[in-house]
Order: sequence, then C-alpha cells, then structure tokens
Amino acid sequence: MALKLNAFNFQSHKYSSFVLPPMVSLRSPKFFMAASLRSGTKEVETKKPFSPPREVHVQVTHSMPPQKIEIFKSMEDWADQNLLVHLKPVEKCWQPQDFLPDPASDGFHEQVKELRERAKEIPDDYFVVLVGDMITEEALPTYQTMLNTLDGVRDETGASPTSWAIWTRAWTAEENRHGDLLNKYLYLSGRVDMRAIEKTIQYLIGSGMDPRTENNPYLGFIYTSFQERATFVSHGNTARLAKEHGDIKLAQICGIIAADEKRHETAYTKIVEKLFEIDPDGTVLAFADMMRKKISMPAHLMYDGRDDNLFDHFSAVAQRLGVYTAKDYADILEFLVGRWKVADLTGLSGEGRKAQEYVCGLPPRIRRLEKRAQGRAKQGPIMPFSWIYDREVKL
Ligand SMILES: [Fe+2]
Ligand SMILES: [Fe+2]
Repeated sequence: MALKLNAFNFQSHKYSSFVLPPMVSLRSPKFFMAASLRSGTKEVETKKPFSPPREVHVQVTHSMPPQKIEIFKSMEDWADQNLLVHLKPVEKCWQPQDFLPDPASDGFHEQVKELRERAKEIPDDYFVVLVGDMITEEALPTYQTMLNTLDGVRDETGASPTSWAIWTRAWTAEENRHGDLLNKYLYLSGRVDMRAIEKTIQYLIGSGMDPRTENNPYLGFIYTSFQERATFVSHGNTARLAKEHGDIKLAQICGIIAADEKRHETAYTKIVEKLFEIDPDGTVLAFADMMRKKISMPAHLMYDGRDDNLFDHFSAVAQRLGVYTAKDYADILEFLVGRWKVADLTGLSGEGRKAQEYVCGLPPRIRRLEKRAQGRAKQGPIMPFSWIYDREVKL
C-alpha cells in the first residue's frame, strides 16, 4: 500500500455535508503560474496554463491485497454471463438525435423555435442544475480513467477482450450519449452561456476527480453503484420538474437518461452483490470504508475560472430544488444496505461485524443530523452563475 501525503486543507460546509464531498479542495488562485526553468545556460520563462487543484487529503493507492486480484480474474466468466447482459446492443440504443430537431429536415427551424419557446417557461435555477448535471456527464473521460485505475479489472490495452474491459468501454460509450444530448439541448435552448459552460467542462476534465477508491475494485464498484443510483435520482428529478414546467420533451430527455443510469446501477450493484457472496468480510469492510470517507460527487472539482466554490453553489441549488438532496444520499445508502442484505450477513470477523453495524446504522443517523442542520439553516444567499450570463439564483 503506497501512501502519498498532500497538504491538508479544510473548508467549512455551509450547505449540506452529505451532498458534498467530505473535504472540498481550496483551489489555488494561481491558474496562470509563471515558472522559471533552467535550460542549459539560458533561463526560460514558461507559463503554466493550468494547475490542477491542490489535493486535500492523503491519497492511498493499491489498497487491495494483491492476492485478491485473483477473485476478479476468476469472475471473468461470471461477468460475461451476468454483467454484459446489462449492456444494450448499439442498434437498439437511443441516440441523442432521436430527441433533438433534425438539422437535415425542412422543419428544423420550426422545431428549434418550439424548443426555445418551451425553454422560456423554465426558471433560471432549473437551468443551473441542468447545466451542472450536463457538465458532470461531459467529464466522462475522467470516469473511464477512474474505472481503469482499478486493479484486476482495468482495460490493460485499450481494446482488451476481458469482460471487465468490454464492460467499461461499452458503459463509457453508452454514457457518452448523456452529455451529448444535454449539451445539444442546452445549446439550442438559447438560455445558457455555452462558452462559460465549455470552459467549466475543460477545467473539470483537467482537474479529474478524487473518489478515494484507492485502485481497489471493491471500493470502486461500491462507489459506482452509489453514483449510478445518485444520477438516476437526479435525472429523474430534472425530468419531473421539466414536466411541471410544461416541457414534456425535456422531461423525456432527462427521463431517458435516468433509465440508462438505472440499468447501470443494476449492473454495478450486481458486481458488489457477487463480492458479498465471495468475500462478505472484505466487502462489508470496503462498504464501511467508502461510507466513512463519504461519497464525493464525480464533479466535485468543478470550476468555471471564477467561482472557487462552484460545486457547492451548484449543489445548494440542486438541494433547494429537490433534484439531489441530503435525504437522497441517505435513501441511496439505505437502498444499497437493503439491496446487498448487509443486515443479514453472518460469519463475519469482529471488524466485519463492526463495519456491518456501522453501515446499517448510518442512514437514520444521516437523517437525524440533516434534520438538525435544516432546523439551523438560514435563507440561502443569492449567487450569480457564469453559466447563465451572471443572472442571480438563490442558493
Ligand atoms: Fe450518465
Ligand atoms: Fe451513469
């Protein structure tokens, strides 16, 4: 196990501690840093165009004991039979174009006009959340990278024939439609500052993410199970709100993405279910470890070149609109505890029993803390968002 120490920074959580990552980085204001490099006898001034945010906690790598890699190798056939069935053949998949005006048709301009008319009825705060969701989806290269950090299941070549690698590539290909569809819809809506959004995406992909999964597929698949359900919930809620604002077509767009997330959740939770069967002790320990660290959202390092707390601000709006809330966090955890029958596990070690107790008791604890925090919560401030031309939205 390799440990890498980084500078510790803490930031207070003004909004909700459960929808936010446990420790949000304090971003270096120096995104343009001049550095001096000596090259031969000549001193060369180079401008660093981008410096990733400072890490905020200890980064642990390769925490799974090497012998456990064999578990994943021996699951190859299982994955072929049980995991790949949750992928949809490309020919049967929806494509973004199915939900967008057809640029080759005579009716294109009319369809765009209708889309923009419908979008006019939707408030700015909704757009802030939809943009945040779209940016999260657009940082897909980071998530494929994250899956390929996992020992025993990574795609070793980029075209590896193992079931794990086939899954990861096809999952990525399915996910790629999500950002694409939302991006094109938002572009056509005329309601948002596409350049500011595009900058945020570039910053986010450049920053990566730190889910603290430690190259450990136990942690990795617990994380993805949680995340796929979280995105299912959040896209489902943007669908519901679009319908309430009278935009059935946008509701359909968010709904069809939510359905994919659900299918992906089924696949990832199945992997963890199998791990519970093979190695209940190791899996319950991993589950407790992941929950102690809290599940950080994939876009937690979001930045638009200006707002150092952009992710917190976006999350606060999502929380206020009920798109993704602290209650959802507790609900997802409770769902997973039930899905994996954690309470019924027997034959665990002492440590395992402690971990079992911890995760089973966590959802009600989170709810109690959240209720207390809500009682203390003051009215949220108003914040301008670059994504909507600095129009202000209540947090
Ligand atoms: Fe997605
Ligand atoms: Fe997803």
